[in-house]
Amino acid sequence: MIEFSQRMQTFHLTNGQISYLLKIEDHQYLSHLYFGPAVKDYSGHFSYPRQARSFSPSPAAYPRHDFSLDTVMLEYPAGNDDFRVPAITLRHPDGSRVSDFRYDSYQITKGKPDLAGLPHTYVTDDNDCETLCLTLKDALSGLRLHLFYTIFAQQDVISRHVVLHNDGANTCTIEKIASLNLDFPNQPMDLIHLPGGWAKERMVVREPVTTGIKLLDSKRGASSSQQNPAVILTAKETTETLGDAYGLTLVYSGNHEITVEKDQYDQTRATIGINSFGFDWQLAPGASFTAPEALLAYSDQGLNGLSRQFHQVINQHLIPQRYQKMDRPILVNNWEGTYFDFNDEKILAIAKEAQALGIEMFVLDDGWFGHRDSDNSSLGDWFEYPGKLKNGLVALAQEIKALGLQFGLWFEPEMISEDSELFRAHPDWRLQVPGRQPASGRQQFVLDFSRQEVRDEIFRQMTAVLDQLPIDYIKWDMNRNMTDVFSAVLPANQQGEVAHRYILGLYELIDRLTKRYPTILFESCSGGGARFDCGLLYYMPQTWTSDDTDAGERMKIQYGTSLIYPQSTMGAHVSAVPNHQVGRNTSLLTRGNVAMGGLLGYELDLTQLSTEEKSEIKEQVAFYKEHRQLLQYGDFYRLVSPFDDNLVAWQFISRDQKESIVFFAQQYAQPNPPLRVLKLQGLNPDLTYQINDQEIAGDELMQIGFYLPIDLHGDFDSRLVVLKAK
Ligand code: DGJ
Repeated sequence: MIEFSQRMQTFHLTNGQISYLLKIEDHQYLSHLYFGPAVKDYSGHFSYPRQARSFSPSPAAYPRHDFSLDTVMLEYPAGNDDFRVPAITLRHPDGSRVSDFRYDSYQITKGKPDLAGLPHTYVTDDNDCETLCLTLKDALSGLRLHLFYTIFAQQDVISRHVVLHNDGANTCTIEKIASLNLDFPNQPMDLIHLPGGWAKERMVVREPVTTGIKLLDSKRGASSSQQNPAVILTAKETTETLGDAYGLTLVYSGNHEITVEKDQYDQTRATIGINSFGFDWQLAPGASFTAPEALLAYSDQGLNGLSRQFHQVINQHLIPQRYQKMDRPILVNNWEGTYFDFNDEKILAIAKEAQALGIEMFVLDDGWFGHRDSDNSSLGDWFEYPGKLKNGLVALAQEIKALGLQFGLWFEPEMISEDSELFRAHPDWRLQVPGRQPASGRQQFVLDFSRQEVRDEIFRQMTAVLDQLPIDYIKWDMNRNMTDVFSAVLPANQQGEVAHRYILGLYELIDRLTKRYPTILFESCSGGGARFDCGLLYYMPQTWTSDDTDAGERMKIQYGTSLIYPQSTMGAHVSAVPNHQVGRNTSLLTRGNVAMGGLLGYELDLTQLSTEEKSEIKEQVAFYKEHRQLLQYGDFYRLVSPFDDNLVAWQFISRDQKESIVFFAQQYAQPNPPLRVLKLQGLNPDLTYQINDQEIAGDELMQIGFYLPIDLHGDFDSRLVVLKAK
């Protein structure tokens, strides 16, 4: 899959679908040649037009006067006489920021190396991918840079990461180290990204790439609701179904930085990596630093094609192997049903209703520990005081299990309340700058997870609970942004390491817990979907998508999320109306239909429902169970975008193309509405499908489509249609 041509001095990574080409130029600089659809035998014709640049005033260090780094597409730029956004910036002991990395050697291996302490894609069979490691050296400083590229055989995805070693005699400071740089030749492009906020995560924004630098980032200590760590670059004409689409995402859960720059020659450069804001890292002699993995995907079948590449790589090479294709349970969570106001009777009553409706798991959310009757106390005290649960948590869990339900529990391990035993014992364990009052968020503070002893104490407390509990699931929450980033145990010149050390510490703790309890299903959560990223998905195969459970809002949130993340990662619950976040009334039908676009769950007081509502939920649950593999793991196609249209539609298709489910909804009811035709995708053109009481050929459904029923009535009315091949 990876070839080095001695004659052309090029590396060609290809899986038959995509090609990635880079070249060792004169003076051992690495230029980028190409990324896109596969080329069979690259001839070497494409090379930098040196003479054409002889008029350029861009500087070039002698003797490469005809080869200015400022003008050429580069593989991993270090700045200096390349004036665009660099991939790496280092501060040397003499105060200079000039580095000059030249190609040294390469290695091609089957399979894929692990990343020290960081989440990453993996293979279980070394034949599923091949890895190129390029070594570059900066002679003066003695720094050695390894650029890793892994190309997957079955997915049109290349994973990349970077390791920097200090073979020199002095400590150097890393100011920026991107995980990936990708230069594109002169071509008009669009940028698609996923900004948002609490309860409105991953809204889709598409805009032209224009001259200058676009910075998309998070400084919040988490990947954030405000800017998901992923972008897509497309040709101008790219749609959901057609055209070039290049996707970049980071396998990381902390501060991130994405830049997209269009330069003086209309070339585009994209970088993605740890945010350089507030970051620097002391790299001592003999030490190495590993930057997080980034994933690069390509499709010539538009955004849907690109999403399928990401979905497959996440489902098959990122989430824990145990959960690949595993039926995810339908759960009921008590948060919106009770908030903090619950006792054993109330919980058991909801659990009994859930069991009767066919729901498979009960999740006890926030409020079971310490003196936690509101959000102003007890974080950090992961034990019970007698009282709230009459017979205690273990007895309650046992009763729930005795009903035949699985049992799940909420934790927010990274946080501390001032009103807690932990804070009284260790007031210096939170992130805070000596002499300054740290900012509180939701009346809580962030524990310094860069410290081993802090993590050890949380591990001790959590295992004390988990070791005695019959537990199947953990919801791992994190409800505030990181501020006052300062660790009491690090010296002044290492304070720029705290945010990243925190994330490394977080991964270390999660790794310990998930290894100790391999059968517990973990779902990550962060005030809704503020840490929906590939980093946490490596440990926890599903994520709470958003605190906004309104079906109308969820259509957009789940649609945007699906650009990168598969439906098998998206927690999606039916909640009560009027909706608690936006006050909107939607039908139970639509709430169910939308929640089935992700991992179906319920989050309301089931005891308050009417008989009709209960029987409707029973039907939803039965339908979801019948089609669970298709809904959770089928290929996902977005058909009509709620960001562009009053209509929204998506479709699931089984791998063998024999079964499909189509979801469509109108957002706002219109008088005398237009007659709409919906064309399906991904079906087998040669098969005939049973759809309602008709039999229609796959090619007809895709080319001609079908009229949407005219009985869609009222705001956010929706339908699910099942197709089965004859
Ligand atoms: C925020 C989460 O997103 C909610 O689902 C819920 O678990 C609350 N935290 C509990 O405090």
